[in-house]
Amino acid sequence: MAETESKIILSEREMPQRWFNIVPHLSNPPAPPIHPATGKPIGPDDLAPIFPMGLIQQEVCQDEWVEIPDDVRRILSLWRPSPLVRAHRLEKALDTPARIYFKNESVSPPGSHKPNTAVAQAYFNKQEGVEKLVTETGAGQWGSALAFACNLFGLKCEVYMVKVSYHQKPYRKILMHTWGAEVYASPTDRTECGRQILAQDPECQGSLGIAISEAVEVAAKDETAKYSLGSVLNHVLLHQTIVGLEAQKQFAIAGDSPDILIGCTGGGSNFAGFVFPFIPEKLQGKERRIIAVEPTACPSLTRGKYAYDFGDTSKLTPLIKMFTLGHTFIPPGIHAGGLRYHGMAPLVSQLQAEGVIESVAYPQTAVFEAAVLFARTEGIIPAPETSHAIKAAVDEALKCKETGEEKCIAFNFSGHGHFDLAAFDSFLAGSMQDYAHPDEELFKALEDLPKVEG
Ligand SMILES: Cc1ncc(COP(=O)(O)O)c(C=O)c1O
Repeated sequence: MAETESKIILSEREMPQRWFNIVPHLSNPPAPPIHPATGKPIGPDDLAPIFPMGLIQQEVCQDEWVEIPDDVRRILSLWRPSPLVRAHRLEKALDTPARIYFKNESVSPPGSHKPNTAVAQAYFNKQEGVEKLVTETGAGQWGSALAFACNLFGLKCEVYMVKVSYHQKPYRKILMHTWGAEVYASPTDRTECGRQILAQDPECQGSLGIAISEAVEVAAKDETAKYSLGSVLNHVLLHQTIVGLEAQKQFAIAGDSPDILIGCTGGGSNFAGFVFPFIPEKLQGKERRIIAVEPTACPSLTRGKYAYDFGDTSKLTPLIKMFTLGHTFIPPGIHAGGLRYHGMAPLVSQLQAEGVIESVAYPQTAVFEAAVLFARTEGIIPAPETSHAIKAAVDEALKCKETGEEKCIAFNFSGHGHFDLAAFDSFLAGSMQDYAHPDEELFKALEDLPKVEG
């Protein structure tokens, strides 16, 4: 690759044909999900009411490689392979000797990495005769990705959208409607758990944990429907590895290799998808830092506890071992709605606990400063979630400026911020606030953690 070139583009024929599974590379077997009633590991049958068998098999898969079905690859090729971009202008603005690259996942029709798994999930559900998928969404990225995917496979789609975002961010709701989905502001009076929450607090603005409870409840009660989750679970992370696998091919073409890999983490899926394929080399001794970036307002990896917890507020999910702030933790309404989740993917959590990856947290004003710098140099307006990764990349590049090191820094550009302009407006007007939790407030929800050995 010439020094002046920006984009490394693969042809559609070079799109990976298999997903990469990190599980066989881990030094310890993953902690099994536990049934809250029995305290015993759950089996595939326990998950069958809400997930199709094809995805359950991927959830427990031990094979290193999993074939991507042709029908899935054909739809992914509407926008994949995505470009790997050398951020020359950002490097220049920072006056850094570091080389900065980003993998541009914002080129998908819904604007983020989320359809990489939405398309796969819709496919495996359709294969098993499911007629409708039910899900939750925070700021609407995941809901719009699933609406897009369901539409392509002729599935119905029902989305429980966190109420605060439903009212503040109407445009993603319109995207979902355009792709044919039904969207409800959660908590609703359509479900038992929604009604219970509204009885306690009629003004409740919702949270991802509550919306998950509503979606799981609806799916479990409807024989024609299944539930779909946009992050956290092993099969979701698996589907996202197409991102890192493409990036590996692109780095080979560029004749470069990342010293530092960075991704923002809500439930962990874009981070995992980008970095997991690079981890075996690190485990074999290659010097490489892998950094997960989260908001200080919802710091599960940097300040949470590694313990078994529920994935949702109403305790409908199995218990999973993860870094968590407690299933009753309701984070403040930061603009990065997709990072407002109390837990973290078990596989990402395990890698953090084993010291393979590291994590850092930033307040949102510092994050938006980096976002605006990126928009003014590289041109694309990043999603607030993505901007966390940009902030970490900028900080690492500035460290290189101090030390004179010519490191190769790569981050996952998980999505654009075209529907988050109100957040940029608030930052540019100087009215954006940061949230820092005192310990006693942050750790309060940890008192509600279920008691589980392990
Ligand atoms: C653009 C974008 N990036 C990142 C995330 C965080 O999710 P995950 O950690 O699963 O990638 C979201 C979630 O909604 C998102 O919309």
